[in-house]
Amino acid sequence: KVADLKGLKQGQLRLAVITTAKYIIPRLLGQFCQLYPGIDISLQVTNHERILERMIGNMDDLYILSQVPDHVDVSFEAFLENPLVVFAPVNHPLAQEKNIPIERLANEPFIMREPGSGTRRAVQSLLDEHGIKVKVKLELGSNEAIKQAIAGGLGVSVLSRHTLLTDAHEFSILDMQHFPIKRTWYIAHPAGKQLSIVARTYYQYLLEAAKKIVDLEDIALPTTPVPKLPE
Ligand code: PGA
Repeated sequence: KVADLKGLKQGQLRLAVITTAKYIIPRLLGQFCQLYPGIDISLQVTNHERILERMIGNMDDLYILSQVPDHVDVSFEAFLENPLVVFAPVNHPLAQEKNIPIERLANEPFIMREPGSGTRRAVQSLLDEHGIKVKVKLELGSNEAIKQAIAGGLGVSVLSRHTLLTDAHEFSILDMQHFPIKRTWYIAHPAGKQLSIVARTYYQYLLEAAKKIVDLEDIALPTTPVPKLPE
């Protein structure tokens, strides 16, 4: 047991997560690091396509992504919902309306994530399904930059609900038909890859921590217990 703990304290943990997970993973890491102060962590935050490249190149211990690839052999487990919602400025005229038809999106200047983004792909496939063409006013490779553009009145967009963690009062979420787009975050690694003790401990920690999140805004998790050490 003591030897185990020692090993844990000296470990290295390499994580790569999709951009929308950056609103939650660093906070959860804070608690993990308090439990295991000697673990050094590197956290890469990038889009879906780059996460897949990293996974294929076996560059990290664990990955967080929203869509598990079918052309790569991956072990994965769902751990948290990741709903995508329509963001508009607080004072947008549609903010007061209910059950807005999705066709109305075609009239709004739209801000779109970059190619390679999983969010973009999910949005595009919903729009295609309903035969809707949006007017893309601006294409941006960052959720945060998109939020600033929305706040600045440039248009509307569809982003993960999680990106609202700290500044929800600056935006309205439109009550639009076919939204939220339901997505899930998965914790994943290449199938057959032997995980280190540190990686297994973090994996368990994350599943436990996610179970305690009842409200998506409630991620402070002050009472997360020390997870069991792997046997
Ligand atoms: P993204 O990933 O950062 O590539 O948009 C988010 C997602 O796939 O839900």
